[in-house]
Amino acid sequence: MSKQRGTFISLEGGEGAGKSTLLAGLRDYIAAQGVDLVLTREPGGTALGEAVRAIVLDPARHGMAAETELLLMFASRAQLVRELIEPALTAGQWVLCDRFTDASFAYQGGGRGQPVERIAELERWATDGLSPDMTLLLDLPVATGRARAAGRGEADRIEVEADVFFERVREAYRARAAAEPKRFQIIDASLTPVEVLHAAIAAIAPLFEVKA
Ligand SMILES: Nc1ncnc2c1ncn2[C@@H]1O[C@H](COP(=O)(O)OP(=O)(O)OP(=O)(O)O)[C@@H](O)[C@H]1O
Ligand SMILES: [Mg+2]
Repeated sequence: MSKQRGTFISLEGGEGAGKSTLLAGLRDYIAAQGVDLVLTREPGGTALGEAVRAIVLDPARHGMAAETELLLMFASRAQLVRELIEPALTAGQWVLCDRFTDASFAYQGGGRGQPVERIAELERWATDGLSPDMTLLLDLPVATGRARAAGRGEADRIEVEADVFFERVREAYRARAAAEPKRFQIIDASLTPVEVLHAAIAAIAPLFEVKA
């Protein structure tokens, strides 16, 4: 008998929104439910993807074309889907991913102005149209997120962008959430870490019922 397919959850949001913090809390909660869980991140998550991440986020790589950045994000993603996410879901594991394709629509689309239809085409081709079962969007004013992220040492190649860039990123995320209200759950990321975790746990509760 084939195993029931696993559940795919992605975490999205701007810089310093609290994705990595929430990932750790959700990992413990989901694992405590007896679910076999795989954690990963984008760009990265595979040996090849982490090598791509080092290139695409390297602040010393000035002058990277927006098209190059978009293709590198999808190069990492194509590998992650084939090497890790699809095999895990097929094996019945759950996958919790720190960013996924919505981030390309937000950053390379909203932020860099790459055409949405091009990104959608890449999504169909490079990821076989794989979409998360649920996406938790941590929404936060840009200034708050940047202040949080500031304490972390050297900014990466994307973090050095101006506030207007991150305002476009935030708007693109919110527009995607509005367009797909069943998949997206928007979480107020200005709450405390514990409150954010509790909101996320409430949001994913239906996923356990479906699988039960
Ligand atoms: N709800 C919260 N309230 C206040 N501070 C928070 C909250 N969540 C996380 N932080 C702090 O803000 C900083 C950024 O959090 P975190 O690294 O989780 O964000 P992120 O979304 O993963 O950022 P990035 O996009 O840069 O990876 C950390 O110092 C973290 O401790
Ligand atoms: Mg993070």
